[in-house]
Parts: sequence; structure tokens; C-alpha cells
Amino acid sequence: MKEKVKKIWPEIEWIKDKTLKEKTLDCWVHTIENSVLSPEDLEVIPFSLLIKDCKITFMNHKRTAVQLAVEMAEIMKNNFGDEIKINMDILIAGAILIDVGKLLEYEIKDGKLSTSPAGKLVRHPFSGLAIADRFGIPVEVQHIIATHSKEGDLGQRTVESIIVHHADFVSFDPFKV
Ligand SMILES: [Fe+2]
Repeated sequence: MKEKVKKIWPEIEWIKDKTLKEKTLDCWVHTIENSVLSPEDLEVIPFSLLIKDCKITFMNHKRTAVQLAVEMAEIMKNNFGDEIKINMDILIAGAILIDVGKLLEYEIKDGKLSTSPAGKLVRHPFSGLAIADRFGIPVEVQHIIATHSKEGDLGQRTVESIIVHHADFVSFDPFKV
């Protein structure tokens, strides 16, 4: 399973810290093993069940968000210099993990993918946080998972979380109807 996850998530290799890289991979391996979906499914299923005729896949959407977050952070570091501090490992691990809990929101009923009752009660920012904590993911990354979605609008996000939040939404909002 590890090799399969590495294949769908080449961006995991971008994490420089070896321990964080392993833990990020472990979160995905564990969650896929406990979901109704396989790594191959993630490259086929639409990234949102709420968008009609969505042709963008789950992995395309997720990888685009990670790539956008990194590009944004690089430009900000180049242009703002010492005025801003961005931890790239934290940002990348966070961007990779924001939707890991989403795998637990799905169920397959009558051959159709839908949101499970548990997924309706506990959305993925919360289930993702629980998974991350279980695997010893640092609190700075847990913060990104917890605040990446609308649930995070009430508090103050870190700079890494602000970037990931926007990267996620620019690769989502254009497809909303
Ligand atoms: Fe999300």
C-alpha cells in the first residue's frame, strides 16, 4: 500500500524532514486501508459529490492545491523576504493532509458513491485531525487540517494555513455551480 500511496502522491517526497514525511505517508496509508476507496479510485472519482458532472478527479484537485500552495509560498518568500516566515515542510504536509479525513466521509451504496452518515456528523477537518494526532503529526500541521475549510473561518490562521486554505479554494470554487 505504501508504494501505491507514494505513486498517487509524488508531492509527499517534497517534505524534507524524514520523520514528517513518513508520518504523512502513514496517515494516508492507514486511512485508505480503512476507507471504501482504493488509491486507484482516488484518481477516478470526482473531487466533489456536490458538483454535477464534475470531471476533475479527487487526486487532480488535491495535488493542484498542494502545488499552488508551494508556488504561492515561494513567490511570497521571494518578494517579502524577511518580513514573512513560512515553514515549507509544515505547509506541504498540511496541504497533503487537509482532506485525508474525507476518505472516511464516503460510503458505497447500491454501487454509488455517497456521503456516509458518519461523514455528515463529523466532517473531514475533524476526522483528519484525529488521524493526524494518532500518527504524531505536529500541532502546526494539525492546525492547517483543522482550519483549511469554513470551520477555520472563526479563528486566526497561521500563514501556512492561510496559503493552504486559499490554494484549496481556488482549485474548488471555479467548479462550483
Ligand atoms: Fe477539505
